[in-house]
Amino acid sequence: MCGIVGYIGNGNVYDVLIKGLQRLEYRGYDSAGIALLTPDNKINVYKTRGKVSALENFCRDKNTESRLGIAHTRWATHGEPTDNNAHPHYSEDGNLALVHNGTIENFKVLKDALQQHGVHFHTETDTEVLVQLIEFIKVQNSCSLLDAVREALKQVVGAYAMAVIDKNEPDQIIAARKSSPLVVGIGDDEMFLASDATPFVDHTKNVVYIDDEHIAIIRKGEPLRIVDFENKESKVSVKQLEWSISQLEKGGYPHFMLKEIFEQPETLRDCIRGRAVADQGKVILNGVLSNSEKFLDANRIIIVACGTSWHASLLGKSLIQQFCRIPVDVEYASEFRYSKPVITDKDVVIAVSQSGETADTLAAIQIARDKGAFVYGISNVVGSSIPRNTASGTYIHVGPEIGVASTKAFTGQVMVFTLLALQIAQLKGSMPQEEIQAMLDCICRMPEYVAEVLKLDKAIQRLSLIFTYARNFIYLGRGYSYPVALEGALKLKEISYIHAEGYPAAEMKHGPIALIDPGFPVIAVATKSATYDKTVSNLMECKARGAKVIVVATEGDEEINKIADCIIRVPAVRDVFSPITASVPLQLLAREVAILRGCDVDQPRNLAKSVTVE
Ligand code: G6P
Repeated sequence: MCGIVGYIGNGNVYDVLIKGLQRLEYRGYDSAGIALLTPDNKINVYKTRGKVSALENFCRDKNTESRLGIAHTRWATHGEPTDNNAHPHYSEDGNLALVHNGTIENFKVLKDALQQHGVHFHTETDTEVLVQLIEFIKVQNSCSLLDAVREALKQVVGAYAMAVIDKNEPDQIIAARKSSPLVVGIGDDEMFLASDATPFVDHTKNVVYIDDEHIAIIRKGEPLRIVDFENKESKVSVKQLEWSISQLEKGGYPHFMLKEIFEQPETLRDCIRGRAVADQGKVILNGVLSNSEKFLDANRIIIVACGTSWHASLLGKSLIQQFCRIPVDVEYASEFRYSKPVITDKDVVIAVSQSGETADTLAAIQIARDKGAFVYGISNVVGSSIPRNTASGTYIHVGPEIGVASTKAFTGQVMVFTLLALQIAQLKGSMPQEEIQAMLDCICRMPEYVAEVLKLDKAIQRLSLIFTYARNFIYLGRGYSYPVALEGALKLKEISYIHAEGYPAAEMKHGPIALIDPGFPVIAVATKSATYDKTVSNLMECKARGAKVIVVATEGDEEINKIADCIIRVPAVRDVFSPITASVPLQLLAREVAILRGCDVDQPRNLAKSVTVE
């Protein structure tokens, strides 16, 4: 949450920073701001409530000439999203400007102490405390900015990625992190820093991931230096970025979300490439193969995740239990950490996160590691904190996901869970080889099936028109379709702000059926499966009370015509694969309803994609 970006080099600083902020806007868009060090060593800070486009308008008549700068896009935690609370924040004497992502938990104590020394505060943010503290230490100790930052951070409790500039020490940006992401991009005679690599991928592919509790010293004309809080020098390890610029652009689509929905045949291909080796009857998931004894000896697998990743994890549970006969629990990462979990070194914990940066999931990983469990990560963003903090893992390889509502990451996560379950089953011998072969053949055809489903987009557009009146939706499913119902409801909530609940279909009669009145929309995922007949009975119960029933059904299923008011037909696949084909039309439906309601599909209100606060 919140994105920070910095640049030092010969390019147009303002343009680089604004472009960088636009790429980071998925991390929050309550306010945006920029601090520019002018050629004559003054700091100009421009900031405003609203999105980066509002900042651009604000800066139109301002002096943006500069030699280096830092910038910020905010998801508000402490203090309302006002102009005043927008970052960058500056020290009282105006010497320093600072941007910050994260939360400073002891800000009140630090603020009180600084106020007792006569420091005045101008905002309600925790961040202002940090910049004032650095300035205070710098003046008190007559020390360098670097030393002041080191000393200040030793006093700070919380999570942060921050960057600060000082007009008395020009040509330098000091940046640091603890539990929030920070990467440095190294170009020709220029350096970038950002919350992730998206702001500078068109300038350089050389990245350095800054480790926790480390400080990056970015100086013009000098190589990057990294020190810890004790000023001990660390090795600078440069990695190569694999992303391309086209992955970060809309490519002719009106929204990233639509682009990402339509990318799914390709992203699934990328996800299974080299892993589902059907012609050899093998799954090759190196992270599992190289740790096979951990999975084979596991008493239990615990999956921790948040949001959409949690829904994919529910499917992971069903797949692993069915294929491998290993007990699996799925926990919200945010609840897990406070539940005094019973974990032993015989447990395997799988942490699932698209961004690889979700604070609660990272905290859950730490608990599992402390208890001696083997921790495995499933993530999308290469080099993010979760892969760096887990013993092993698998990338879903779906490319950057920018729309705040997750789509291609969900299908990628489900696919990785399918591969993982098959891999363990193959190692364990818990599934006959013919069955594994049949599964692999189906996996290889999944991209084609999803391409078929995407042809429904016009029909779904028409279908969405009749639901513009509805203020409540219920999504139903059983077995593998239940997490799909949860995910379908979440998509609708997130981007159209319509209240939607996902339920196991049979639970309707234990309460929610009381909500049904004539015309109430019920969306059911009722593809052919072992629970199909039961689901149909549950739908009859809704229909009898006047519900308008829309069904995601299997091609060729004529029986469903008797109860469904509208039918979305998806290709016939084995029930374990139906979550992938059935979730895609629900992604399209949510998007269409959101468009009809005039909502911002890519940047829904109050949300951010990477949740780096607890
Ligand atoms: C946020 C996003 C969701 C996402 C969740 C977990 O709430 O808006 O789309 O599912 O975080 O994120 P993660 O990156 O850990 O999968």
